[in-house]
Amino acid sequence: MYFKLSDEHEMLRKMVRDFAKKEVEPTAAERDEQERFDMVIFRKMADLGLLGIPWPEEYGGIGSDYLAYVIAVEELSRVCASTGVTLSAHTSLAGWPLFKFGTEEQKQKYLKPMALGEKIGAYGLTEPSSGSDAGGMRTNARLEGDHYVLNGSKIFITNGGIADIYIVFAVTDPSSKHKGTTAFIIEKDFKGFSVGKKERKLGIRSSPTTEIIFEECKVPKENVLGEIGEGFKIAMMTLDGGRNGIAAQAVGIAQGALDAAVAYAKEREQFGKPIAAQQGISFKLADMATNIEAARLLTYQAAWLESEGLPYGKESAMSKLFAGDTAMKVTTEAVQVFGGYGYTKDYPVERYMRDAKITQIYEGTQEIQRLVISRMLTK
Ligand code: CAA
Repeated sequence: MYFKLSDEHEMLRKMVRDFAKKEVEPTAAERDEQERFDMVIFRKMADLGLLGIPWPEEYGGIGSDYLAYVIAVEELSRVCASTGVTLSAHTSLAGWPLFKFGTEEQKQKYLKPMALGEKIGAYGLTEPSSGSDAGGMRTNARLEGDHYVLNGSKIFITNGGIADIYIVFAVTDPSSKHKGTTAFIIEKDFKGFSVGKKERKLGIRSSPTTEIIFEECKVPKENVLGEIGEGFKIAMMTLDGGRNGIAAQAVGIAQGALDAAVAYAKEREQFGKPIAAQQGISFKLADMATNIEAARLLTYQAAWLESEGLPYGKESAMSKLFAGDTAMKVTTEAVQVFGGYGYTKDYPVERYMRDAKITQIYEGTQEIQRLVISRMLTK
């Protein structure tokens, strides 16, 4: 046991924290209000090498590991959860399956420009009638000569509309549920591909979430990712790591809310002394900090396991489950510490509370995380 981050991880944390404070935090409230994604911030993240943290340099990455990546997501989310999930979807949901299952040519063509920040990635699994039951998807792909033709639609796509590359799953053999699904790499300019409705959301409002539509969309055969019929497995394996990215986002949101609550509690006086000196508030802060620390340790452990090449699916589901619930609990308590002021837009804690809710829903609801964990315990 060695409970200390390496100097490299600490340096990366400091770099991302400074960047987040200087470049991301000042406009976070305004972007939330306006539901505005900021490409300038994304480009600056590229300049810092944040868009390909775990990938080797030959694919445009910085050759670091998954622990460094979750630290970056955490620090960004500490000031702006939308920026955190932009990085998480780009890296975990689009970059990871390309890195693991892409051919050399696909990695050079798609992963490298993504890691360099020249292109943005997204992932499309959910459909209007298949959310938790991901295997029930209806988007289909039929082979016609040297290309596939896709029809259907996907919803709730993080980075939808701003992404250049979408990793999408479609049924290639309707007679076989899980083994009849294939993964495809879709470019935004493919004929028959379009971006549909943009969602108006409770939280993470400066991260665009859209529908994507396939109408007789022609996809070259060489854009099949992995093997034919391997799509469901690729989708699930991608989510194994993606869920830990969401756990990191949740830890960041919770830490940001705690930072704000501690600062306010030290300054706000009632009954002749700071509210931080009153047990009703100080015990709340202690519980918030304790839960965040436990969530962070679960998240770092899952990232470390993945970096070491060890199994991490169960741990990743656990980190997302615990960190998501922690983010919701901690941000709700942070609003409580601020009292009436916390309920207004004059302080950031209401935004943290709205942003926290999605961490209990996307990349598998908390109920699905329990299903994944319990199946692994009993199989
Ligand atoms: N790794 C590798 N293989 C896996 C796997 C994993 N983690 N999970 C399942 N599989 C394999 C199984 O081994 C099985 O293969 P065999 O048939 O060869 O044995 C096959 O996949 C089917 O597995 P299950 O029987 O477990 O499948 P299921 O239909 O019962 O579903 C589930 C399992 C866990 C409920 C799955 O459907 C699931 O994760 N649902 C939630 C979906 C989800 O998280 N959606 C979020 C989308 S992303 C998002 O939120 C948007 C965004 O942009 C952020």
